[in-house]
Amino acid sequence: MARDFYASPFGVAFSTYMERPRLARLISRASFGADTKPYYDSMGAIAEVPDGGTIVDCPCGAGPAFRGLRPEAAVRYVAADLSPSMIRRARKQASRRGLTSVEVIEADATAIPEQAGSADLFLSYWGLHCFNDPVGALAEAARILKPGGRLVGTCFLRGKESLRQRLMIRPHTRDFGPVGTEEEVLEWMKAAGFDSPSTQRSGPMLLFDARGRAGQGQTAP
Ligand SMILES: C[S@@+](CC[C@H](N)C(=O)[O-])C[C@H]1O[C@@H](n2cnc3c(N)ncnc32)[C@H](O)[C@@H]1O
Repeated sequence: MARDFYASPFGVAFSTYMERPRLARLISRASFGADTKPYYDSMGAIAEVPDGGTIVDCPCGAGPAFRGLRPEAAVRYVAADLSPSMIRRARKQASRRGLTSVEVIEADATAIPEQAGSADLFLSYWGLHCFNDPVGALAEAARILKPGGRLVGTCFLRGKESLRQRLMIRPHTRDFGPVGTEEEVLEWMKAAGFDSPSTQRSGPMLLFDARGRAGQGQTAP
């Protein structure tokens, strides 16, 4: 992906509609045949992190997941992305929502400057289909999570199930990386240390919810 693909008009439009769940639902149904409701619902995991806990959100984009964070929550929330324009939007979004605990940083998904075994929850929304090294990004999530910590995320899948999927999801074009099939994404997760994720499919969209292996995040980066 070009380093700041999201500085484009597409990035502005994407950031705008992702902040509006009803509009995002309409757009993703019309363009991908996918329902984004499970994605917004899954953000409930954020409120389940106890006080003193740590949440890492990568890629955070313009911060649509911030809606799951209560301003008074006593947690650390690290939001990381590679795109300077998305980082600017995420900072604005955090301040608009009065979220003083959110730290927005520029980082590659494969090298996030966080301690091994430090996070309770790792959010990976709509990143795996963009990353050039999705296994590296999942391994980084596994490194950062506490033993048994939770990974929640979504991604688009490559496949031939529908014409829309073939036309809209084209690996190595626009912001897409290699893009996995469902089987490949599950293999990547297993390789990175996430066994038996629970998954939910809607068209070419996959929602995943998994736990890191015990002892996984104990090694130094
Ligand atoms: C489709 S957007 C999803 C953003 C956000 N999670 C959401 O739900 O709207 C993909 C994001 O991945 C970021 N990205 C792409 N490659 C990255 C990488 N290697 N490391 C970190 N972020 C990356 C892009 O800058 C963009 O913000």
